[in-house]
Amino acid sequence: MFNKMKWTAAMSVLAASMVFTACNEQDAKKDSLEAAKAAKSAEVAASAPSKSVVVYFSQTGATKKLAEIFTKAKNADAVELKLVKPYPSTYDSTVAAVGAERESKQWPALENAKVDIAKYDTVYLGYPIMFGSFAPPIYTFLDSNELSGKVVVPFCTYGSGGRKASAEELKTLEPNANVTLAFGISNKRITAENGAEVAAKEVEGFFADLETGKTDEMLLGGYSEQRPLTAEDSAVFAEATKDYAYLSLKPLSVSTQVVAGTNYLFVCEMKAFGGPATQTNVKIFKPLPGRGAAELIVVEK
Ligand SMILES: Cc1cc2nc3c(=O)[nH]c(=O)nc-3n(C[C@H](O)[C@H](O)[C@H](O)COP(=O)(O)O)c2cc1C
Repeated sequence: MFNKMKWTAAMSVLAASMVFTACNEQDAKKDSLEAAKAAKSAEVAASAPSKSVVVYFSQTGATKKLAEIFTKAKNADAVELKLVKPYPSTYDSTVAAVGAERESKQWPALENAKVDIAKYDTVYLGYPIMFGSFAPPIYTFLDSNELSGKVVVPFCTYGSGGRKASAEELKTLEPNANVTLAFGISNKRITAENGAEVAAKEVEGFFADLETGKTDEMLLGGYSEQRPLTAEDSAVFAEATKDYAYLSLKPLSVSTQVVAGTNYLFVCEMKAFGGPATQTNVKIFKPLPGRGAAELIVVEK
């Protein structure tokens, strides 16, 4: 009886181990088949013509740096728009030249205004913010190409902001294109020593937001309710905006989000010189104690 039981138990162990081995072999075969399939489709994807193109203008290199991150992340083709007559080399004279273009709405000629857009489904469109919206060479590009039916993903670099306003202007000018949520990063952050790394990480998060269909309103959803300012909040705001000289900003209330440091979302009264007061959101990041000063991320406009 005892022996029979032992034998039966031994047989069941043997049978189980045979089934297990067979399953393992089957799994291994399946895995290697899957790996071969994945390798094949990666090979096909790498050799297939890209369905997306990164088109960008960059005056001083910050947007170019960002465009390279987009190009690599999406395995896209890339076109850098080049001015026939480059802007002057100093900031003040570029401001004067761009101001004159905006005034006259005479957009600058480009060496390569016409891009073979028909080949692509998606256009990642990159620019520096100039005078609150995209740089004038982008108007020339829009005037020279047909973007109807295309997905247009705007991305920009800026001194303090302009991401949302520039995307809104694109939507108005290209009503038949699908203009998505826009990505933006400040010049200071992307040109910092670890700027490429910081931007690449944010771009990755941006693609995840795009995929889940996030809107600008939803991006603000992670913050708590706005509350009155404390003296500490006001000090953080003052520290982060001490070099900000463009518009008058007065913080009214704040909400915070604790990350590795603290994200602040200030609701501010904003006044352009001589203009009426409006409200805007100002994002500031304060690193953990001892890890640097509070940093202005964006004045959302
Ligand atoms: C003529 C001119 C106008 C600008 N206007 C704005 C502006 O309205 N808002 C802003 O946040 N930054 C503004 N900037 C700063 C640029 O957007 C910022 O430096 C950008 O990162 C430059 O990108 P680039 O290096 O690719 O040319 C302006 C810069 C210039 C030269």
